[in-house]
Amino acid sequence: VADAEHLEEVTRWILEALDSVVAFGHVQSRIRADHDPVAIFPAARAPLRRLVNFTALAFLTVDEQSDFVMVDCDPAPARTLLERDIEAAIERGLFAGAVNGHRPLTIRSQRPGHTLVLHSLVAGSRVVGMFVGLVRDSDSTLSPAASNLLSLILFSTAQAFENATLYHRVQLEAQGLEESVRRRTGDLQRAYEELSRTKDLLVQAQKIEAIGRLAGGIAHDFNNLLTVITGHTQILKEIIAPGDRLARHVEAIGQTASRAAGLTRQLLAFSRKQILQPKELDPNDVVRRMELMLSRLIGENIELVTACDPLVGWARVDQSQLEQVIVNLAVNARDAMPGGGRLAIATSNVELDAAFVRGHPGSREGACVKLEVRDTGVGMDASVQAHLFEPFFTTKGVGQGTGLGLATVYGIVKQSGGYIAVESEPGHGTCVSIYLPRIARSAAPTAAPADAAGAPHGAGTILVVEDEEQVRLLAAEMLEMSGYQVLLAAHGAAALQLLEHHDGPIDLVVTDVVMPQIGGRQLAQQLERVRPGTPVLFVSGYPDDAFGSAEFAIPDAAFLPKPFTATDLARQVKTLLERQPS
Ligand SMILES: Nc1ncnc2c1ncn2[C@@H]1O[C@H](COP(=O)(O)OP(=O)(O)OP(=O)(O)O)[C@@H](O)[C@H]1O
Ligand SMILES: [Mg+2]
Repeated sequence: VADAEHLEEVTRWILEALDSVVAFGHVQSRIRADHDPVAIFPAARAPLRRLVNFTALAFLTVDEQSDFVMVDCDPAPARTLLERDIEAAIERGLFAGAVNGHRPLTIRSQRPGHTLVLHSLVAGSRVVGMFVGLVRDSDSTLSPAASNLLSLILFSTAQAFENATLYHRVQLEAQGLEESVRRRTGDLQRAYEELSRTKDLLVQAQKIEAIGRLAGGIAHDFNNLLTVITGHTQILKEIIAPGDRLARHVEAIGQTASRAAGLTRQLLAFSRKQILQPKELDPNDVVRRMELMLSRLIGENIELVTACDPLVGWARVDQSQLEQVIVNLAVNARDAMPGGGRLAIATSNVELDAAFVRGHPGSREGACVKLEVRDTGVGMDASVQAHLFEPFFTTKGVGQGTGLGLATVYGIVKQSGGYIAVESEPGHGTCVSIYLPRIARSAAPTAAPADAAGAPHGAGTILVVEDEEQVRLLAAEMLEMSGYQVLLAAHGAAALQLLEHHDGPIDLVVTDVVMPQIGGRQLAQQLERVRPGTPVLFVSGYPDDAFGSAEFAIPDAAFLPKPFTATDLARQVKTLLERQPS
């Protein structure tokens, strides 16, 4: 019978223990739901209150400095009282005992008629906090079972608290990781886009380069043919009487040949094989002198605005080529603004840095003069921009554009050591920027070349060395017409033989630059040995032949570009002969 009462008590304990465990399931799930460690303490209070009739209870956690800090107290006004109890327990060394005990420790409270229950919160082997509960003396006897249950609940509380803290930390770290992964991915994406853009530009530049070489080669050979055609046409013109009915045909041949020469010149300009006469000039000067002509060219419904930086540096370029660049760009702009608009030409100083060069393959770091030609026209889409500089690329109708404008511009700019960039968007106009290496302003005025008309006559013996038979014969004929005696050699070796064994004087040598085995330069060197002081006139279709090699640069006065006319040849021969001290 006595045991019946005992049995009832045991049953009650078991039910309460189950209750506590279930309640703790809720605590755990709450932690996961709010990720909030603080939510654990109110949740733990319920089973604790059911177990013992606490009048007040509080939780302390261990902060970073290993101090115990009260983080939860219920009811709140009891806080000071509990803190005073803890102070007293610390002073008596009981708090430290409770920290290490892992079992409930009951001591007298500061509050009369009350007992204080201390219990450590242990997670694993670490004390993560303390529990403090206040009970009336009448309720203070804890049976061993209640004491075990209290330990169990507090142990779970500590565990839940530790888990929540860890969970929180892991989450923060994961967030940081996510953020840095996102950042890295963004960086990588940008770098990749930059790279593929640069690659596209590079491929485009290489393509233009290849087309340039091809066009240059064709134009070079074509020049030899044109030299022969125009030369013979000129000779025919002089033979045929003005009234002759053949004169009309000869005239037509001459005109067609000179048109072909014009086209070849454009191709040569594109392939950078043009004979340039670079000089130091003020780009503002060039723009200003062209203003009137440009405004006529673009018509009345397009406004021309120039913005020349007065401090802009100088550039070393061929003036007429630079003018051609500006005209070509202005004409393109005009064609892009059929309904009127604005054409703005500006000059400025810019410094191209490593970042610019990286984004603009083909450009070079350094001080530049920038010439900008901007229009408010129809603009271009990406597919047009991709082919812009290719010769014969045009979107204009038959007879309206040859597609050589920008190819020429490209060649001139490149040959002058510069860089060209185009920015455009359909409907938003186009801006072409040309960067030319900047040089210090020069004070020396640039002299205009003197000009005289008519093929001059002269006397003397001239040796013509040229591997192309037609050109050789033509040159001979031209020189004979001007009164000279002519010796011919088909290659360098034959010329040397003649120079060594010819009895009479040889007053001048006209030679092609590029010939198999012994070239023009080598021949000139040998000539110094055999007949020192004999002047040489070099003839070539490639400017590089004149300016290319540093060890033997051909002086300006001694170079005649192909195709040439009888007048060109005779004039230059006479100049060289007259320079000779007789
Ligand atoms: N400022 C511009 N605005 C819009 N499109 C342009 C501009 N400049 C050039 N283009 C486009 O680029 C193409 C090629 O220009 P490019 O000057 O090389 O040849 P073209 O003007 O067609 O003929 P050409 O100059 O030989 O008479 C043009 O047909 C046009 O489609
Ligand atoms: Mg054009």
